[in-house]
Amino acid sequence: MFENVPRAPEDSVFRIGRMFTECEDPLKVSCGIGAYRDNDGKPLVMDAVSEAKKRLHENPGWIHEYLPLGGHASFLKGAQKLALGDELYAEKSAEGKVGSLQTLSGTGALYVAGKMYSKFSPVKKALISNPTWGNHNAIFTNCGLEVSKYRYIDESCTSTPKLDLSGFLEDLEAADEGTLVLLQACAHNPTGVDPSQEEWMKVIEICVRKKLVVLLDNAYQGFATGDVEVDGFAIREFVKAGADIFVACSFAKNMGLYGERIGALHVVTNDKESCLDAVSQMKIISRTTYSNPPQFGALIADTILSDDKVYGVWKEQLAVMSERIKSMRGLLRGYLEAETGTDWSHITKQIGMFSYTGLTKEQCIHCREKGSLFMLETGRVSMAGLNEGNVERVAKVMAASIKGE
Ligand SMILES: Cc1ncc(COP(=O)(O)O)c(C=O)c1O
Repeated sequence: MFENVPRAPEDSVFRIGRMFTECEDPLKVSCGIGAYRDNDGKPLVMDAVSEAKKRLHENPGWIHEYLPLGGHASFLKGAQKLALGDELYAEKSAEGKVGSLQTLSGTGALYVAGKMYSKFSPVKKALISNPTWGNHNAIFTNCGLEVSKYRYIDESCTSTPKLDLSGFLEDLEAADEGTLVLLQACAHNPTGVDPSQEEWMKVIEICVRKKLVVLLDNAYQGFATGDVEVDGFAIREFVKAGADIFVACSFAKNMGLYGERIGALHVVTNDKESCLDAVSQMKIISRTTYSNPPQFGALIADTILSDDKVYGVWKEQLAVMSERIKSMRGLLRGYLEAETGTDWSHITKQIGMFSYTGLTKEQCIHCREKGSLFMLETGRVSMAGLNEGNVERVAKVMAASIKGE
């Protein structure tokens, strides 16, 4: 049977990661994968995570039993509170209108949401942004959905990417009632271009009026502005507008728990019974896919979310990390403007972990081959890979690729 299996293409993000590892240039820079690095270019274990692990090892009231099918209950409460904010959480949880499943990070949450929709929705269509995170299309196609794209980036200015609000809204208007719409709650990957709060309200109005099924991908809460409350804006406004929504949350980026695969899929509904029904079915999907979720990441995230002191330490460091990325935006823009003499203000207007530079595929390959700068061939740069020691050189490599030098 295996003789008939065709070789699958390598994942574009992991391919760039592999090429970076194989590169022997001591000046090489990794701006491919979306993982935070400190100013020395090193991976970071957040202080709150170290504190949580210390507490867990000092007081091991836990053993290696299976978690319940739905996951770690206290972690899930904390995750709901983080997504919804204290007030909405109090209201919705008292009414039994928010329910959750612990998932294999954000990807697992998106998959379970896609499966839920494909099992129970009479419409089998998903709408994702153009462009979007590479895995969205594959996940929803895997779930048996017909995937199409809504306009997101203005095609008339690809070298200085900005939001195509009218195209975005028109495509939502044109969607069939009941279509699953994937929206990134904040820090849009790969573009770093988010709607303003005013623009979000227009998106929400259409989604609610057109009865679209909203799935908010919340992979970067806290990374966009440094403030988890501000980054929760879209989720909370959808709930206030009375929409039934899915929220797929990841703690990979904002807690730096990438490999622990810790996430949550929330549903917020308009009545208690449908919330219970939805969660019961989400458990069936996880049971038949990977049985139940891993424990250690849940214990760490729960310690952070449920202890005021550790939570405070976490929020503070998240703000510092996001500030470091912002300062890299300023430096990169300045060096690029000096090198090219053109406007690079889109770099500082974009937010979150990524910048959509506007470089063409050929220019990205040029950066890699001539300058050992590893970025995605779509022009996406992970800003977390930049630091005071490499940002000037990165700008020079990018500028050289534009000039064809
Ligand atoms: C937009 C977006 N959604 C979801 C994810 C899922 O991440 P994970 O499964 O590691 O939590 C990512 C990861 O890069 C992402 O960029």
